[in-house]
Amino acid sequence: MTSRPQSNVDGPAGESTNNSSDPPHSSGQSGGVPPGPDGLPIVGNTHSIIREPFAFLDELHGYGDVVRYRILGNTVTALFHPDYVQRVLVEEPETFERYLFADQGFDFAPEGILFTQGEQWRTQRQLMQPAFTVDRIRSYTDTMARYAEQTADSWETGDEIVLNRAFSRLTLRILTNALFDLDLEPGESDAVTRAAQLINEQSNSRSVAGFLPEWVPTPGNRRYHRTLEAYRDRVDTLIEERRADAAGTEEPGDDLLSVLVHHAESNGGALTEREIQDNLITFTFAGHETTSLVLTYAFYLLTQHDDVRRRLEAEQQAVLGGATPTFEDVTRLEVTDRVLQETMRLYPPAYIIFRKPTRDVTIGGYDVPEGTVLSLPQYRIHRDERFYDEPEAFRPDRWREECVNDRPEYAYFPFGGGARHCIGMRFAMLELKVVLTTLLQRFDLELVSDPDLALSPGATLQPADDVHVRLTERT
Ligand code: HEM
Repeated sequence: MTSRPQSNVDGPAGESTNNSSDPPHSSGQSGGVPPGPDGLPIVGNTHSIIREPFAFLDELHGYGDVVRYRILGNTVTALFHPDYVQRVLVEEPETFERYLFADQGFDFAPEGILFTQGEQWRTQRQLMQPAFTVDRIRSYTDTMARYAEQTADSWETGDEIVLNRAFSRLTLRILTNALFDLDLEPGESDAVTRAAQLINEQSNSRSVAGFLPEWVPTPGNRRYHRTLEAYRDRVDTLIEERRADAAGTEEPGDDLLSVLVHHAESNGGALTEREIQDNLITFTFAGHETTSLVLTYAFYLLTQHDDVRRRLEAEQQAVLGGATPTFEDVTRLEVTDRVLQETMRLYPPAYIIFRKPTRDVTIGGYDVPEGTVLSLPQYRIHRDERFYDEPEAFRPDRWREECVNDRPEYAYFPFGGGARHCIGMRFAMLELKVVLTTLLQRFDLELVSDPDLALSPGATLQPADDVHVRLTERT
């Protein structure tokens, strides 16, 4: 039997139903199993997820703020209220550990910082943190601007550009240069972006392949394994080369690759070869695909909102007057900052975060047993009308300070939260502003592909089709 959606989004009967944006709080008594759609036997709700994943999230939210659903044998509990997000990510990190479907075969880098837990994760995070301090981030500004300018130089008015592909190449080159001190050849960057694309396809919850374990020899799985193996070989060579460069020098370079190699077990340090390898793979994936997507969505939105684009141009003129942005300039680009925040509200690259409780817990009065997969869907919470008026509208002014103060903090969490929040957040924000500003100072863009942007839920939130624009003269 299917439980009926509740008319409000509060908890089970008997709990206080106060202000509609307040979450239910546990009365201390167990409220039983959360409500939710039961779906078909065995496959659970898999069919609905594959057919219409985003509509399915809306449907789920109709059952309340704590909702249970089933996907091929797993029971998942979705949390739709910012206070629950805050509890899970920030307040009780020991109780809720990261879950990334590694047991379902989605483990492209199991010994890297994305997948590790406990002491192993803490050691890695501490070793890598120095590459992300404000001063280090500031020092990446020139690299970001240089590569953005090279891209602009390679574009000409009248050209048709596939935004998602162009930005994937650009952000990968920025990342590998800033963090690994490497200058990738175009052929090499294509191989890496192809590997990232396969990781996305592999985890695409719309395709049936996304639900098959990794060992099933589908053509997609074979290609994925071949590509990952080739990529691992390449990463091994990079590590060896860096080790050879470092031999005989007292102080390692301060880029992330040199730091990782310096802390290798073979060097008396804490990291195994596999951890170094997996972290390079992790950073190349997590660090370029995400920013590339935000740039793609931001430019897409700007082609649809002339008024916002004009305000951006006015700000750039006032702050930069055509010059290459410096770190200090970037801190003054307030409209640009709001445009990017609003872009990530509507199109969060990490559109859902998963956790697993390490013990039985009660959330919103409902029992959630140890090991239940918890999903925190940014995509849906960012579009919740309890926290955003006309949530589907692109309105950068929502990010003016006075509006932000009216919302619960975790109504917006594109970079996650708590101890495991995105280590690359500052890097990403700087890069987004530098690239957006550099390109917009040179070109206007006109959308050529379908203005109705269809989305595809892979490991990150992808446009279902390439996004084409034509470059026009900047007036
Ligand atoms: C707009 C761009 C980005 C977005 C939206 C984003 C989003 C996120 C989110 C939501 C998480 C937390 C996932 C969770 O808690 O389960 C995360 C973690 C992470 N991100 Fe990002 N990210 C971005 C850019 C970057 C960049 C540029 C880098 C590297 C330079 C990076 C590296 C990482 C790493 C290594 C983690 C794992 C951290 C840990 O577990 O300690 N990300 N990111």
